[in-house]
Amino acid sequence: MYISNNLAVYIHWPFCKSKCPYCDFYSRVNPYINQNDIITEYLSALQRYYNITSERTVHSIFFGGGTPSLIKPENIAKIIDFITGKWHTNSNIEISLEANPNSRYATMFADLKHAGINRLSLGVQALNDDDLRFLGRTHNVNSARYCLQEIVEVFNNHSADLIYARPQQKMAAWQQELSEICSYGLKHLSLYQLTIEENTVFARRGIKPLAEDDAVKMYQQTRDFLSSEGYQQYEVSNFARQNSESKHNLTYWEGGDYIGIGTSAHGRLKLNNNHIATEYPFLHTALTPQERAEELIIMGLRLRKGINKQDFAQICGFSLSDFINQQNLAELKKLQLVEENDSHLFATLHGMLLLNEIIIQLCS
Ligand SMILES: C[S@@+](CC[C@H](N)C(=O)[O-])C[C@H]1O[C@@H](n2cnc3c(N)ncnc32)[C@H](O)[C@@H]1O
Ligand code: SF4
Repeated sequence: MYISNNLAVYIHWPFCKSKCPYCDFYSRVNPYINQNDIITEYLSALQRYYNITSERTVHSIFFGGGTPSLIKPENIAKIIDFITGKWHTNSNIEISLEANPNSRYATMFADLKHAGINRLSLGVQALNDDDLRFLGRTHNVNSARYCLQEIVEVFNNHSADLIYARPQQKMAAWQQELSEICSYGLKHLSLYQLTIEENTVFARRGIKPLAEDDAVKMYQQTRDFLSSEGYQQYEVSNFARQNSESKHNLTYWEGGDYIGIGTSAHGRLKLNNNHIATEYPFLHTALTPQERAEELIIMGLRLRKGINKQDFAQICGFSLSDFINQQNLAELKKLQLVEENDSHLFATLHGMLLLNEIIIQLCS
């Protein structure tokens, strides 16, 4: 739920053990970094953001990457302690970390929990060795399985990422991986269709994604199967068991405020009625209410429940119906791509496959 006083904190760790050939997230392979120096920079950036947001309540912290499971647990604790020692925090604050099985050591998960992490998201990506090799992952399926069992034992809140619609992937094989991932009892799953991003090794090698028709069928079957396993789709690629949606990611999709720490991290703040885009370490750019409104539409339509009209008006200062193209909306409704109720405007299941087109129509 969007609450204007809430603040989410994203901490980006832009280092990995190796670069995966499909990945265009900002990350570098550099074993020679000085972690202590970087943590000192992060703390001083956090202090600067605290100076302008000290009245806010932090409801989530997310360590993402890159590979934040490479951060020493004592450094994770330093960051969490700094944030929780400065800002007011929510009693059920969510503190997540993305872990890669390739950074595991015997006590890693216990150490992360001890540092203050209360939600662990594991980068599994595939549950067979051939596809893990194809994806350039440096862990094997046994280590993924071991980590999955461990995170369910150590944490009360957990998630896993998988990438599907891999070239040549067959539904039966994906179904096996889906059944297996559901068997661990995780509270949340992020399932992404493989995209071939420019400037990645996959793009240079001319790797082609799965044919669109097959990818759509896989998406539909994935949704149906997960629903039968008690995971409700609440966003294009995200599925949760009851009350286990990612609070942190909901902040982005619901238009809440967040700050981003670490190279390439950005944030959004509403300060004194101005919309601010922030870039690490401390660059501020003003956004017009119209620019922010477009962002809210782009993000909100990714949610199954859609855009909350009341929140939209509260954030932007004008109503959703005044902002969007009403003629195009009527057309999209006729095509059964978009629906509306008193509180929300949302894409239908079919519309979710055509979000880019819908957004262009609504914002033109
Ligand atoms: C930025 S990554 C960080 C997670 C962690 N470093 C890892 O690899 O396990 C977040 C997630 O994005 C997904 N992802 C990254 N590149 C992708 C692509 N080209 N297509 C689909 N999913 C992708 C992966 O599932 C990954 O776990
Ligand atoms: S997918 Fe994860 S581990 Fe691989 S390069 Fe990207 S951020 Fe690093």
